[in-house]
Amino acid sequence: MARERTLSEQAFEQFPQALILVDREATVIALNPVAERLTGWARGDALGRPAADILEVRTETGVNLCAPNGALRRALRLGTKINTHFAYLFRLRTSDDPVRVAYSVSPLHLKGRAPDGAVIVIHDVTPELETIEARDALMLAASHELKTPLTTLKGLSELLLDFDLSEGQRRELLQDLHGQADRMERLIGDILAVSRIDSGRVSVDLSRVDVASVVQHVCDEVSPMLKGRSLKCRLPEDLPAVMGEARKLHQILVNLVNNAIKYSEPGTQITLSARGDPSAVRFEVSDQGVGIRKEHMPRLFEKFYRADDPAVRRTSGTGLGLYIVRSLVTMLGGQVHVRSRHGKGTVFTVTVPRAETTARTRPRLAVGAH
Ligand SMILES: Nc1ncnc2c1ncn2[C@@H]1O[C@H](COP(=O)(O)OP(=O)(O)OP(=O)(O)O)[C@@H](O)[C@H]1O
Ligand SMILES: [Mg+2]
Repeated sequence: MARERTLSEQAFEQFPQALILVDREATVIALNPVAERLTGWARGDALGRPAADILEVRTETGVNLCAPNGALRRALRLGTKINTHFAYLFRLRTSDDPVRVAYSVSPLHLKGRAPDGAVIVIHDVTPELETIEARDALMLAASHELKTPLTTLKGLSELLLDFDLSEGQRRELLQDLHGQADRMERLIGDILAVSRIDSGRVSVDLSRVDVASVVQHVCDEVSPMLKGRSLKCRLPEDLPAVMGEARKLHQILVNLVNNAIKYSEPGTQITLSARGDPSAVRFEVSDQGVGIRKEHMPRLFEKFYRADDPAVRRTSGTGLGLYIVRSLVTMLGGQVHVRSRHGKGTVFTVTVPRAETTARTRPRLAVGAH
């Protein structure tokens, strides 16, 4: 007769971590679907076997959970609960890499003082560890990147302190010093932005954004940095609004124009343009600079990636700008593309959905509405 499932059975089945129930001889008497997935053992094959057959979980010192001196035997013998925050689960049925896990073994008592069995709970900690590792890598890279401008800053200040300098020389050194401080400030800003992006702490507040005013603002902001390059901002009269966030759009375009400036020579032209497509506004930032070789294209948007090219290595940079650009563009529901010819120039294209297309529920009716 089919037995109605009790809520506790349901809880066992649906528990989000691996549960393995053993009797006092450490024989498997139940396991839930997560445990089946994690160990690679189907319930039908696992039940009735010694836990050691299906489970090899080793702590960093190499002690196996199911060994005679391991946590399971100790829990069954002494009746104490054992927690381990970090261990490796080996997949005995496949040659897959071990999974990083945390586990606990809790003795179960039906009656009497001696345990009648135990429940092993195993939690796959890979995602948590990946987040921590990414953060560590960012910290390491950040410290490394900050060292260069900091060393220059120290050298410059020593020069200022130790030597009798003319007013002109002092000014020049102070200007360099200011430039390095600027670089450090930008770098810290970028590192904080990446850290916020990677931990999912960036919220997106979409609203109708007037593109012309953002573009104008960007052109005004970057003009002091042009140093002999000319910047043309091309905006048609009837530019549609986008559904986005002005601050993010601004950050995207400033990053792209800054790259265009950094990777081109004085005397060349940079263009920032925007035009309306049927469903998006298309921004283009083009330069007549050093360009990008084909082999670097696939990795440009990766964190810390800089093309291995003398023209690029001459400039200072961390390789975070385009990573931030792509993350922000994605948050706005848009896309970013690049085309380039080495030695000729580069064009970055960003598309952001138009406000009216996003809001429209019946797009067909609106065709030709303006
Ligand atoms: N307009 C461009 N022309 C030529 N190469 C470019 C251009 N924009 C980006 N690149 C290449 O892409 C790489 C990554 O760009 P990104 O903006 O992410 O980093 P960066 O400019 O080197 O440093 P950061 O922006 O963090 O200061 C650059 O190092 C460069 O090799
Ligand atoms: Mg950059």
